[in-house]
Amino acid sequence: LDTVVVALDGPSGSGKSSTARGVARALGLRYLDTGAQFRAVTQWMLDHDVAVEDPDAVAARAGEPLVESGEDPEDPTITVDGVDVSQAIRGADVTGAVSAVSAVGAVREQLLELQRRIIGRGGIVVEGRDIGSVVAPGAAVKVYLTADTAARAERRAAENGGGSIDDTAAGLLRRDSVDSGRESAPLVAAEGAVHIDTTSFTLDEVVAQVVDLVRAAV
Ligand code: C5P
Repeated sequence: LDTVVVALDGPSGSGKSSTARGVARALGLRYLDTGAQFRAVTQWMLDHDVAVEDPDAVAARAGEPLVESGEDPEDPTITVDGVDVSQAIRGADVTGAVSAVSAVGAVREQLLELQRRIIGRGGIVVEGRDIGSVVAPGAAVKVYLTADTAARAERRAAENGGGSIDDTAAGLLRRDSVDSGRESAPLVAAEGAVHIDTTSFTLDEVVAQVVDLVRAAV
């Protein structure tokens, strides 16, 4: 178990974060939220008045933000240049800009290096969009989570303290389409990934399924 890498990919609201943290907790593994890293870089770009819709402007500064991720599933604190942005990165500004920033190759290269360094020898559950396909193609366990759009929007709206399901669904679909359509490491199910549709399962059920997969693989 202390060298296993569990790659958990899927679109927004598919249940990745809750599942990844639950699995890490159940098995005593470290946890890495790569979406939070892209969000932290996005926060930094916004704070430094970088035009986030301009890929050249983002690429020019991609080497500057210093992102540090907590690896404890109970407390995945994330900082950029030493500032705790764990709360700020969940806000609407970052959520609206993150897909554009993550489509920039130079941003992905920086974070890829950091992600591989953190993953190191393993013992970790990693969630994202390209973990099984690009970041850790040798992962012992690869899972691709999906859920109906309505279910995903309901979960996200609930997390954000209510709000319109329709607006949330529109935002999710917009982000999915940018994430799936980009040239650099698009959202895809990795070869050999086990697909789990979480629409009609509880979180505990999904965690149990992934834990079983991990136990069977080690
Ligand atoms: O998972 P989360 O919604 O926090 O991810 C935010 C955004 O970060 C995604 O919409 C996607 O654009 C980007 N991302 C990515 N590659 C990853 C993880 C996240 O491009 N491995």
